Amino acid sequence: MRERWARLVALLTGVLLLALAATLAGWHNRRTSLPAAAPAATTDQRARGAQVYAEQGCARCHSLAGAGNPRLPLDDAASRHDKQALRQWIIADAAINANLSSRVRSAKAGYAQIPELDMTALIAYLQGVREPTSPR
Ligand code: HEC
Repeated sequence: MRERWARLVALLTGVLLLALAATLAGWHNRRTSLPAAAPAATTDQRARGAQVYAEQGCARCHSLAGAGNPRLPLDDAASRHDKQALRQWIIADAAINANLSSRVRSAKAGYAQIPELDMTALIAYLQGVREPTSPR
């Protein structure tokens, strides 16, 4: 009888330890995989973003990695603005309340027509400029 108890207790302890390990592993995975919830930009996406940047003539006013208009470098823009703010800056959204000339405003207003996939790619491109995988 005592032996059966001892076995039962050993078994339960084992099960509890397994459950604990699984829980901890799950917790650990959840923490380490957090960035995956907001999937990292793919190389394709950034390449498309570079195309959009070129097609839209952003370099008339901006520079990246030394190329383009040096007056308004965008190299560190992504470190100061999150995705949402970058989007607002690109299209000169009224929410950013910047002191932009009407010429700049109207140039940027046209960017609101950029298709969503291209806009996401453009933002990923701006964010990727600082990453080692980007062409710099
Ligand atoms: C007609 C000129 C012009 C064009 C074209 C233009 N921008 Fe801008 N952009 C500006 C000006 C002016 C600002 C404000 C800069 C400032 O206040 O520091 C600005 C700000 C920004 C910012 C915020 C920069 C920062 O450092 O805070 C981003 C990001 C940006 N533009 C992206 C773009 C992208 C991407 C394109 C092309 C789709 C584009 N812009 C096209 C003039 C332009």
